[in-house]
Amino acid sequence: MNIVLFGPPGAGKGTQAKLICEKYFLNHLSTGDLLRKESSKETSLGIQIKNTINDGKLVSNETTIELIKQFINENKNNNKGFLFDGFPRNKKQAELLDHLMESINEKILCVILLNVNEDVLKERIMNRSTTEGRSDDNLETLSKRLHTYSSETEPLIEYYSSQNLVRKVHGTGEISDINQGISSHIEASLNA
Ligand code: C5P
Ligand code: MG
Repeated sequence: MNIVLFGPPGAGKGTQAKLICEKYFLNHLSTGDLLRKESSKETSLGIQIKNTINDGKLVSNETTIELIKQFINENKNNNKGFLFDGFPRNKKQAELLDHLMESINEKILCVILLNVNEDVLKERIMNRSTTEGRSDDNLETLSKRLHTYSSETEPLIEYYSSQNLVRKVHGTGEISDINQGISSHIEASLNA
């Protein structure tokens, strides 16, 4: 099974992705992690990615989809499927993902939307800035990331709602309660 974990920066996608992947034996495909790894290389592509991330914008669809294809090829035989964390981020990426799934005879089981209000997102990102040291975890870049989310990514909720795939979960409270909420949706989708 393949699942998309969806939500704004700071929604808790990474935290929940790890738990869900352990529970259901999925491969955690975090595009942010793949891009950060690529950006740590001193290549011109790496530098370009780093600048885009620090500017809170989206890396080109071509670059992102290439990294994803590579990850899928390397991991398709381990585990029971993929959990997409931070992808797709715009309509074009959602269409590319549909094609990619089709080409390997797979489909998306459901899209889990983590709902968290903006004050909490800001608080979490500022807390994370003191622990993880990400160059895009600062108020200036965060406000750009939130803008990118609402203009390019949020419209995908409509795209996936029309396919009846969206399952909403409250993203605040105890990590284990949120995890329980996500699991219930996954199991309901599996049994549908
Ligand atoms: O998902 P995460 O918050 O780790 O992503 C960090 C940054 O990586 C995003 O703000 C964006 O600049 C870049 N990114 C992207 N395209 C994606 C996922 C992440 O450009 N599909
Ligand atoms: Mg993340």
